[in-house]
Amino acid sequence: MAAILALETSCDETAVAIVNNRKVLSSVVASQIEIHRQYGGVVPEVASRQHLESINFCVDRAFAEADLTWDAIDGIAATCAPGLVGALLVGVMTAKSLAIVREKPFLGVHHLEGHIYASYLAQPDLEPPFLCLLVSGGHTSLIYVKDCGIYETLGRTRDDAAGEAFDKVARLLDLGYPGGPVIDKLAKEGNPRAFALPEGRVSLPDGGYHPYDSSFSGLKTAVLRLVQKLAQERGEVPVADVAASFQETVARSLTKKTIACALDYGLKTIVVGGGVAANSGLRQHLQAAAETHDLRVFFPPLKLCTDNAAMIACAAADRFQKGDVSPLTLGVSSRMGLTEVMQLYAS
Ligand code: KG4
Ligand code: ZN
Repeated sequence: MAAILALETSCDETAVAIVNNRKVLSSVVASQIEIHRQYGGVVPEVASRQHLESINFCVDRAFAEADLTWDAIDGIAATCAPGLVGALLVGVMTAKSLAIVREKPFLGVHHLEGHIYASYLAQPDLEPPFLCLLVSGGHTSLIYVKDCGIYETLGRTRDDAAGEAFDKVARLLDLGYPGGPVIDKLAKEGNPRAFALPEGRVSLPDGGYHPYDSSFSGLKTAVLRLVQKLAQERGEVPVADVAASFQETVARSLTKKTIACALDYGLKTIVVGGGVAANSGLRQHLQAAAETHDLRVFFPPLKLCTDNAAMIACAAADRFQKGDVSPLTLGVSSRMGLTEVMQLYAS
């Protein structure tokens, strides 16, 4: 297997890792959360500038932690899509420059493919086919992983991503950014059945509902109306009960769709990736439902759920092993579907 140095700068974490043989030799994550918190969310220009300030330090740190020199590196990878364009450019330009100077091949990596590969790092005996529920700040997808690098997207969100819904609901409850961890913590003190909230459903043109697609904007609006009503009627909002009821609704909705999809496609294994995979409500619901249906479900440890470069290096190592490299003319893209991933490589 190849030793890959990878850079991840698609959003608000500057991350660098070295991975060999699906083994993490070092993984450095410089989080910008404290900087963006004062604005209530990620400010793209601030993220780019911060990546630029941190990236060289993170590369040095990754080598120091792994106790390696450049001789040990077979290839240099960077997340090139999807994400914030300015932020992606910092990682990609740094990786390309290092590839030229150090005379190593360069590999662009699709961020979502990275999230899927986090499961291989966490579960070394994992083999396709399996279903991946990818729930992050930017995505909510059900992905059929047919083989390494071969994907079919079976479900997606029609509006907000799951993590985005957590962040927006936290903002309207005045809980700060990022919303997921704080709602998760608060929900433990609340009653998940205190308020009935609507699970988002996506109508089909010929009637009925899409079995795997999600929608969270209606739920978010329902929480807003509930909060306004409670404030008017009671003079105060039982924030823990609202947080617990919201989390319960999201967890139930994602669980139903994921289990239905796994059963319909005859997939016995489910893996969950992305920041929302850390959510305790989702973990409980999905675990219980999977047991009922005799399915296996894997949740990576938190540090592999949220953005990191180890997952990017792991995906790049597999590509490199297959003889794929990216041209140095490869650009970045704010939007790119997972099924277009082969466009990143020339064999
Ligand atoms: O995967 P990630 O680090 O970045 C993206 O690629 O988007 O996911 C970040 C998202 C944020 O929206 C954050 O609120 C959410 O994951 N998140 C959680 C939890 N921890 C992080 N959502 C629910 N419960 C959590 N415990
Ligand atoms: Zn991510």
